[in-house]
Amino acid sequence: MSPDPIAEGVLMVDAGTTQNFSSLLRENRVFAPNAEFAAKAHVKSEAEYEAMYRKSVEEPEAFWGEAAGELEWFEPWETVLEGTFPEPKWFVGGKLNLSHNCVDRHALGARRDAVALLWEGEPGEIRKITYGELLVEVQKFANVLKGLGVQRGDRVAIYMGMCPELAIALLACARIGAIHSVVFGGFAAHAISDRVNDSGCVVVLTQDTSHRRGSEIRLKAIVDEAMEKCSTVRNVVVFQRSGSPVNMVPGRDLWWHEEIAKASATCEPEWMDAEDPLFILYTSGTTGKPKGLVHTTGGYSVGTYLTTKYVFDLRDEDVYWCTADIGWITGHSYVVYGPLQCGATVLLYEGAPNWPENDRFWKIVDAHKVSVFYTAPTAIRAFIKWGDQYVKGHSLDSLRLLGTVGEPINPEAWMWFYQEIGKERCPIVDTYWQTETGMHMIAPVPGAVATKPGSATKPFFGVVAEVVTKEGELVPLGQGGLLVVRKPWPAMARTIYGDHARFVEAYFSEVPGSYFAGDGARRDEDGYFWLMGRVDDVINVSGHRLGTMEIESALVAHAKVAEAAVVGRPDEMKGQAIAAFVTLEEGNEPSEALKQELRQWVAKEIGALARPDDLRFTQMLPKTRSGKIMRRLLRELATTGTVSGDTTTLEDFGVLAKLKDGEE
Ligand code: PRX
Repeated sequence: MSPDPIAEGVLMVDAGTTQNFSSLLRENRVFAPNAEFAAKAHVKSEAEYEAMYRKSVEEPEAFWGEAAGELEWFEPWETVLEGTFPEPKWFVGGKLNLSHNCVDRHALGARRDAVALLWEGEPGEIRKITYGELLVEVQKFANVLKGLGVQRGDRVAIYMGMCPELAIALLACARIGAIHSVVFGGFAAHAISDRVNDSGCVVVLTQDTSHRRGSEIRLKAIVDEAMEKCSTVRNVVVFQRSGSPVNMVPGRDLWWHEEIAKASATCEPEWMDAEDPLFILYTSGTTGKPKGLVHTTGGYSVGTYLTTKYVFDLRDEDVYWCTADIGWITGHSYVVYGPLQCGATVLLYEGAPNWPENDRFWKIVDAHKVSVFYTAPTAIRAFIKWGDQYVKGHSLDSLRLLGTVGEPINPEAWMWFYQEIGKERCPIVDTYWQTETGMHMIAPVPGAVATKPGSATKPFFGVVAEVVTKEGELVPLGQGGLLVVRKPWPAMARTIYGDHARFVEAYFSEVPGSYFAGDGARRDEDGYFWLMGRVDDVINVSGHRLGTMEIESALVAHAKVAEAAVVGRPDEMKGQAIAAFVTLEEGNEPSEALKQELRQWVAKEIGALARPDDLRFTQMLPKTRSGKIMRRLLRELATTGTVSGDTTTLEDFGVLAKLKDGEE
């Protein structure tokens, strides 16, 4: 159960975003759509956007039916929308296959020889795969999976780096109706085994190593460690990326290239029901256990297709680059499924933005004539810190649209992106959405909606978003409240794998009748949304979502730790940093060495992205009389070093005094 966001007197905007928020309150710059851009855009004026938006919410079935009609269906749907929260069904009776709409539709049409995937490895190799070639590769690998006995509805885990084979793996699963569960390549062995076991995956796809900042990440070795705890996995298929030596377990492990060499290049796509599961993707919530969100085929296809078309204003000639890893929802929706359904050329880059130099991204933009560039605010803040000298000398002339995702963008970073990268020519789309939503929810339609630095602007078509109190009443414009969505949208997750009750509880119980996103927001007098950060115990580190409870669970799993409390504190670069307060089991003494050991322990248990930035030992944690850890105090302490405000419910005032003094 998430904490009551308003009980503590104010909307509990997480510490990491308060800084942004105060600067956002003063932000009043407006950037009208660029006229040249608007003239060629899919939606050319505000009036056109408003008319389309009105239709989308007044006649959702007509609107979404038309959108779905732009894709190919093996059998048409009977009803566009049946039922409502928490169990809406979209395109009921319709049959389709997402790999067909991403690949066959273009490969068998005018885009056959157009480049679908344009890959650059970190060491510099380049591969171009046309839609025609992609169709062959996807069919071959789909046959490899079938040959391993993978059937429609089976779960397949994928733990790979950014390479074309990762996209091919997703598409091959979709083709045969296997449910993929991608685990981000930065997660540790535990995270893999937990996820594999939660959904009972039968096959794991991985690669020998992946390149990152000049070194190799030994993905296969990490899978080997995870497999010690996974009894449902029959086979591990290993793509050979680098040729570095790996351990192949006889009878279990197979080489991708050997299997593909034997596979037939024809594999008819399964006719999937619109509501058949497409994939599971795990994300952090307010408990220690990540949630396996399930997305289905029809609604997700239509939602990602339409948002890609309108928010990125995508067209055939675009070279589109989203810098997110495919292991996150951004990669699923806006590296693979959205842009390929649109028939664009999708750029994939394997490595780090600062390898070998801080200008790698700009070199890539110029070399491949990238026209749409989508990244995270945390990356933009890093570019600013590295200095403009890394941007100068690159023309960036090919760019026509920029986008951001993952966390609120501070107006300073927005302006830098607009001026230094977009040269005041490219609109910026700040896209607000979530793993749960599957598709953009609040984002400008460029060419039609004026932008304001730091605001995600207006809802996408069909999205009925509001800012409300806990009782569901609208809050006055200008005031903060809870962000909710009132009506179902096609790409929304349908359940949490194996735990539908948790799905209903987590998203539909907080504000009756509405989907509660977990974020605070405010709307200004123009109806623009300003996101204010999470109001629950989820923190956002460099655009990566982590649950404080997950990190706490990892810490208490260490033999020397008795109790742990984790909070987010503001960080200039990462948005939020992780601060941990730890009490030790009897007989253990705090020390610098133990501090480092515990930080490393969390990295080993979850992944480097969860390693606490600060770790403080304390004899006790501040708790209310009912035993709840007083996170607000810890957040304040981690942020400012002091604590003000009401502490009358604190169980032991001495605890606070000790924490303040930094006693160890
Ligand atoms: O707090 C919001 C923040 O990221 C959360 C969703 O995280 P995740 O499911 O990992 O998906 C990230 C990529 C879609 C949200 O609850 N968030 C995401 N985009 C924005 C944002 N906050 C403000 N502005 C955004 N554009």
